[in-house]
Amino acid sequence: MATTMMEGIERVVISAEEIARRVRELGQAIAADYRGGAARDLRRRPLLVVGILKGAMPFMADLVRAMDFPLEYDFMAVSSYGNGTSPGEVRILKDLDCAIGGRDVLIVEDIVDTGHTLQHILAGLSARGPASLRVCTLLDKPHRREVEVPVDYVGFVLPENLFVVGYGLDYAEVYRNLPFVGVLKPERIREE
Ligand code: PRP
Repeated sequence: MATTMMEGIERVVISAEEIARRVRELGQAIAADYRGGAARDLRRRPLLVVGILKGAMPFMADLVRAMDFPLEYDFMAVSSYGNGTSPGEVRILKDLDCAIGGRDVLIVEDIVDTGHTLQHILAGLSARGPASLRVCTLLDKPHRREVEVPVDYVGFVLPENLFVVGYGLDYAEVYRNLPFVGVLKPERIREE
């Protein structure tokens, strides 16, 4: 195991400064949209921002602070079944604390890859009758999509074959606390 995380990193793909700039832009754009008519809750309750654990945690924390708009936040944790042999099967490990009927909901993800996780979350939350349901992801890999999912806000688009860690994204649960998004050294993937 590396003693510093940088030892395992081959190169930085998106720097902490680039992330901070883009998160500010996203926060401002989202707040402007909800001020400008995206909010559909007839009772005008605050927007509910839903972070998908664990990957979305750092992005979510920065994004909500970039939104000058009244909001509440909550979290869901989901997990793919098994080792990926059954794509599309996702189970809920932690559900929302509150009901979302009639409310405006914004899902926050760290990355959308095949789309299976998001598809399952969207289906589950849609069935609860929110007034509106939108999605914001820091990273998007549109070329890897296996199912079509609507994504309203994207921070950065990544090439298909780039496996990244950091700013919430893990390799074997490690590297989530890197302040940037980077690529692991190939030998590090074999070692750990
Ligand atoms: C990652 C990520 C998304 C999902 C995207 O979660 O946070 O939820 O995979 O992949 P997909 O589009 O192919 O479904 P992961 O299951 O690795 O859990 P984590 O957030 O706890 O790392």
